Amino acid sequence: MHFQEILERKRDGKSLTKEEIQFFVKAYTKDNIPDYQASAFLMASYLNGLTIDETVWLTEAMLHSGIVVDLKSVPGIKVDKHSTGGVGDKTSLIIAPICAALGVPVPMISGRGLGHTGGTLDKLESIPGFNVNLGLDAYQRLVRDYGICLIGQTQEIAPADKKLYALRDVTCTVENKSLISASIMSKKLAEGIDALVLDVKTGCGAFMKTEQDSEELARLMMSIGHKMGKKVTALITDMNQTLGSYVGNALEVIESVDILKGQALPEQKDLVDLSILLSAHMIILGGLTEDLDEAKSMAMKSIEDGSAFLKFKQIVEQQGGDASALDNYSKLPTAGEKHLMKADSSGYIKSLNALTIGKGAVYLGAGRIALDSIIDPAVGLIVKKKVGDRVKAGETILEIRFNDESKLNDALPYFNKSIEITSEKTAPLTLIKKTILGEI
Ligand code: URA
Repeated sequence: MHFQEILERKRDGKSLTKEEIQFFVKAYTKDNIPDYQASAFLMASYLNGLTIDETVWLTEAMLHSGIVVDLKSVPGIKVDKHSTGGVGDKTSLIIAPICAALGVPVPMISGRGLGHTGGTLDKLESIPGFNVNLGLDAYQRLVRDYGICLIGQTQEIAPADKKLYALRDVTCTVENKSLISASIMSKKLAEGIDALVLDVKTGCGAFMKTEQDSEELARLMMSIGHKMGKKVTALITDMNQTLGSYVGNALEVIESVDILKGQALPEQKDLVDLSILLSAHMIILGGLTEDLDEAKSMAMKSIEDGSAFLKFKQIVEQQGGDASALDNYSKLPTAGEKHLMKADSSGYIKSLNALTIGKGAVYLGAGRIALDSIIDPAVGLIVKKKVGDRVKAGETILEIRFNDESKLNDALPYFNKSIEITSEKTAPLTLIKKTILGEI
């Protein structure tokens, strides 16, 4: 097969065969196709689109570019959750221990922060000693013995995605539904799951800005999962404002732990509600009940009786982390300085733009500006008000925690831009836009 002929056909908007897509993925993974030709392939796919069949074949080829973990020796229905990425989105840290505590095994292979969005691995690594780079043997053992393991993509998991994702990042070919679906689903299907809950974000802080695009992405990922014999549920959820109130790696660990301890503040209600709902759908897919209200009560109970927090402590210890830091937050990285951003007028919060808040957090040091940037786990911000809240002139809206004054100065214009106050009453944002269940 000649790759140039495949490229030509994709450039002209023709559909490719399964064999042609397999050829591309295999050859590129083995370095037999250079980056410049792969970039042309990605751009042609981005501009002309891939059919559903092409998307499924691409996913399969990427999935089989590495190992598909076999977790059959672990009893129970293994369920994971994947979020398409947001700001302040730390639900993985909350729902994985909730479900594991209830007996639903959660094999979770997560990512790092991407662009303005945060990543589970960066958050976990802010716990001193926590090792996200365990091999697949340890991963299988922890899922079997503790019902949970939280690691990063290893060399063996969908290596084609690892290579292609890095290329997409620098060739502006990330935001395409087929390419996103194949990337996410190839990694998730390689984990050894039986079922998956997707949290597809929508709004200014998400990769998909409109509900229609988010729903199309959700349905595409669901149909890929179903074709591969997995049960998949998708929620479309708001990402116009930050989720919960803390943004930044160690701060997000603190907020998650507070919630696991049952100590949520009123402004964290959205995070609690979404975590309980996502857990409930995982509990249903995990076969513990068919009733959503009962599943939600089970999730709440695991917080009230302390079992979810205990499970989180257990996995932190098992992955080399200092679990005592979860009771004594001064052992977590802590920023030295605070800057308060106050309301310049009285009124109602109209917007707290998640995109500009996320970008500001990156410039503060919570995320990466370049691939090799070193993040500062201590920095971030606490969002004191949410859309729809009343605010008085001089009241704090954002409490920024920083270590480096010049980084604060880089970040402040973004934080300033994110806040809009109006004199007219505004409505709180709707968090859960849609739930998509069953076969697609
Ligand atoms: N997350 C992924 O893993 N892949 C994408 O393409 C986008 C978000």
